[in-house]
Amino acid sequence: MKTVRMAIVFVVSVAFIGVAAPAARAQGKGSSEVEARKPPSVAPLKSGAVSTHVPFGTGECSLCHEKKDGKGVGPALRPINKTCYFCHEDVQNVMTSGKFKHKTAESCTNCHNPHNSAYPKLLVANLPSLCTDCHVGIRRRMDSKVKHGAMTTTASCSACHSPHASNVEKMLLRLPYEQCLDCHSSDDTKDSKGKLLVNFKKLLAENPVQHAPVAQKDCSSCHETHGSENTRLLLAPYPPEFYAPFVPANYALCFLCHDERIVTVKETTTETRFRDGSYNLHFAHVNKADKGRICRVCHEVHASKQAFLIREGVPYGSGGWILKVGFTQNPDGGTCEKTCHTAKRYVNTVKPTAPAAKGAVK
Ligand code: HEC
Ligand code: HEC
Ligand code: HEC
Ligand code: HEC
Ligand code: HEC
Ligand code: HEC
Ligand code: HEC
Ligand code: HEC
Ligand code: HEC
Repeated sequence: MKTVRMAIVFVVSVAFIGVAAPAARAQGKGSSEVEARKPPSVAPLKSGAVSTHVPFGTGECSLCHEKKDGKGVGPALRPINKTCYFCHEDVQNVMTSGKFKHKTAESCTNCHNPHNSAYPKLLVANLPSLCTDCHVGIRRRMDSKVKHGAMTTTASCSACHSPHASNVEKMLLRLPYEQCLDCHSSDDTKDSKGKLLVNFKKLLAENPVQHAPVAQKDCSSCHETHGSENTRLLLAPYPPEFYAPFVPANYALCFLCHDERIVTVKETTTETRFRDGSYNLHFAHVNKADKGRICRVCHEVHASKQAFLIREGVPYGSGGWILKVGFTQNPDGGTCEKTCHTAKRYVNTVKPTAPAAKGAVK
């Protein structure tokens, strides 16, 4: 068997098998780019305030300023965050005990006007621009072709991140898997084209054979949460159709972790078990100049009821007809019922009869 590259470097409490080069993880490429922005004004607004800070509203300027006089209050009594911690112990606790801190939040006025504001929660701008004015990498992601509904709710970034600090990497409020399932466990979430999205809680409960990265709760190993150029927010291309001409770049997503030799070598006794003797049946089905069958024709990508993530059926055409896959696992291989072709059996227990050609196998 060939090796499976696991390009995962998430620090959340899960163990990964055979972890390899983190550089291979396309995730986050460019998304961590941050730019400085002009410090926002913290002067009290004369009109148009949507939120007003209680101690400002009560006119008690001297709680924070050296002087009482409303006209010339002078500088703040203490360094800015200490000014705030005087009353906001809860935020101080998060900022001191949180394992992952937002350095930017050490100066509270980077995001809050201490007096009043035209936005809720004394913020100096609305989400998401409050964040993306500095996080230009994320802003670019949000501009990509495929957008994620999670980014543009009122909560936006704060649906998943703490702006201050948290105990989960990337200042997430919960483990990412839990966040994904929180929103993706309903029967009525639709994508931007109005197509219903699968209910994940149900999917995982009903399908015991789970793809390793799903079982390891790492949704981000295939999806880019903030936005992506690929269908379904995927990290790398994967054809959305039933047939596609074979070019490895089309399957870049699968080949982030699986060796492309699984479909590029015609004869092998080691690269894949989906072979009849040494004839590579992955090659036979997928590696075609015009109508290559894509992985989805046979495999589920998240979870299935059968071994090897083989699906029970696959939607064929836009009318919603389900083409049965009719797979049976045998001790020495498998059988495919008469659906796509006459019933066929493959035997993959054949041992190599001669040493493999140099370089042909790893
Ligand atoms: C909760 C704390 C707090 C209260 C209460 C408060 N301020 Fe401030 N104020 C600040 C902080 C912090 C700054 C920023 C100081 C700095 O940058 O050094 C500031 C700055 C200012 C500035 C300068 C703004 C600028 O453009 O730089 C003015 C004017 C001001 N406050 C007026 C007031 C007045 C008038 C009151 C009472 C009606 C008041 N503040 C109450 C915290 C407070
Ligand atoms: C003298 C006490 C005091 C100080 C000092 C203070 N706050 Fe507050 N702050 C309050 C109170 C009281 C509330 C209202 C709490 C509530 O509604 O539960 C509040 C609410 C807030 C809110 C929520 C506002 C909303 O509309 O929901 C923010 C944000 C906030 N403070 C930020 C700051 C920042 C930033 C500083 C430092 C510049 C600061 N506070 C300093 C007393 C203080
Ligand atoms: C004034 C600029 C600025 C603003 C505004 C800002 N950030 Fe940041 N952010 C940074 C910088 C700089 C870093 C990297 C250093 C650090 O930890 O603060 C960072 C780090 C982060 C990280 C951790 C990235 C990592 O690789 O570990 C997250 C997540 C994040 N910010 C989210 C947010 C969210 C959500 C908001 C809006 C509520 C926001 N930021 C607003 C400047 C900013
Ligand atoms: C990077 C931007 C950013 C910085 C810097 C920042 N905050 Fe906030 N803060 C937010 C956002 C966004 C929210 C609203 C979060 C939400 O609605 O879940 C918030 C909410 C709050 C609240 C209200 C909490 C509540 O439950 O309603 C308080 C109090 C607060 N911040 C205090 C502070 C203090 C004190 C500091 C400095 C130590 C600070 N913030 C620094 C972005 C920031
Ligand atoms: C649906 C949940 C969700 C929302 C909404 C969300 N994020 Fe994230 N964010 C994540 C997850 C999960 C990660 C870590 C794994 C990853 O990179 O996918 C992350 C990582 C990050 C990082 C670190 C990037 C890196 O390359 O390491 C930054 C910065 C960040 N987010 C900022 C933001 C900002 C700014 C917003 C709002 C405009 C936002 N996020 C909205 C879930 C979310
Ligand atoms: C705050 C709620 C929320 C969270 C958290 C959330 N999603 Fe979503 N997601 C949505 C909504 C709503 C849609 C459908 C609307 C859209 O994307 O425009 C969606 C759509 C999607 C789509 C399909 C996008 C398309 O148009 O093809 C994928 C894939 C996806 N989410 C993955 C994830 C992953 C992975 C996570 C966890 C990192 C996650 N989501 C967390 C709300 C959420
Ligand atoms: C091994 C890669 C991989 C992992 C890991 C993964 N996904 Fe996906 N996901 C895909 C692919 C590929 C699609 C496109 C659907 C297809 O090809 O059948 C997809 C589609 C989706 C969709 C749209 C489904 C629909 O109804 O059409 C959602 C939502 C989604 N994934 C969420 C998640 C969540 C949540 C997790 C973590 C539990 C996760 N994904 C883990 C590869 C992955
Ligand atoms: C983030 C890494 C990653 C990505 C991306 C990925 N896989 Fe996997 N896949 C794995 C791991 C790890 C295994 C388990 C290998 C093992 O146990 O030897 C696996 C196993 C499989 C299996 C065998 C399942 C079984 O139960 O025997 C199939 C089929 C599969 N993957 C298909 C795909 C397809 C199709 C894609 C692209 C849509 C894909 N994988 C993308 C990591 C990944
Ligand atoms: C015509 C159906 C079909 C197509 C199309 C298909 N597979 Fe498979 N695949 C199988 C079957 C059947 C097995 C189980 C072989 C066995 O062990 O008996 C399998 C096994 C696997 C395995 C487990 C390791 C191995 O090679 O035995 C991986 C990984 C895998 N497929 C990935 C993929 C990827 C990636 C694609 C698309 C590039 C793909 N498959 C396309 C039918 C298919």
